[in-house]
Amino acid sequence: MSTPENIHTEFHRMLGRDAKEAQLRQRGHVFWFYGLSGSGKSTLANAVERKLTERGVLTKILDGDNIRSGLNSDLGFSDQDRQENIRRISEVARLFLDAGIVVFTSFITPKRDLRAAACEIVGADFTPVYVQASFETCAERDVKGLYAKAAAGGVKHFTGKDSSFEEPTAADNNWVISTDSQTEEESINQLLERIIPLIELTAKV
Ligand code: ADX
Repeated sequence: MSTPENIHTEFHRMLGRDAKEAQLRQRGHVFWFYGLSGSGKSTLANAVERKLTERGVLTKILDGDNIRSGLNSDLGFSDQDRQENIRRISEVARLFLDAGIVVFTSFITPKRDLRAAACEIVGADFTPVYVQASFETCAERDVKGLYAKAAAGGVKHFTGKDSSFEEPTAADNNWVISTDSQTEEESINQLLERIIPLIELTAKV
């Protein structure tokens, strides 16, 4: 990481991540949920967070509700703005990770290079999770009424319509949770089974 010349870093004085993780008795991790709007990212992140909280794990969710309305309220949905959106979120996720926290992000992150950029910024302990549901399924669910609005031409750069979404390839080796073919409970259990070993530090989890 490069630091501007006029900034004198004090990183050596800061309590390290190991100390925070020992205190929390967990390992920090960033689970990067991505997929179409309405695919179930936030629903699953919230459900998994509740289950982990019951087990005493400290978590943080970053999603549109707390990021696009605040930190990133100046950004829209052009390719450039989405890139900046993901860059800032990745930096924030890394700060939480430095504190030993288990982070769930919930952003469309439509392009492979955006996912790669997030991975690069966060560093190790980053797991991309593709929450898969077809455009048709999401349009049918239309939780926010956005698909109907987009169909009527009322949403610029709508993902899956006039702005593309790149699916992961097998070579990307991402976790895939298909909300198209699974019940919510199945998806939650599948996630917990894979998440718990990655955040385990002691018998607490
Ligand atoms: S991302 O592409 O930059 O990762 P992000 O996840 O932050 O997108 O925001 C997506 C959410 O913004 C959607 O779930 C939807 O509620 C809303 N939204 C508003 N306009 C658009 C649009 N043009 N394309 C996609 N989502 C949009």
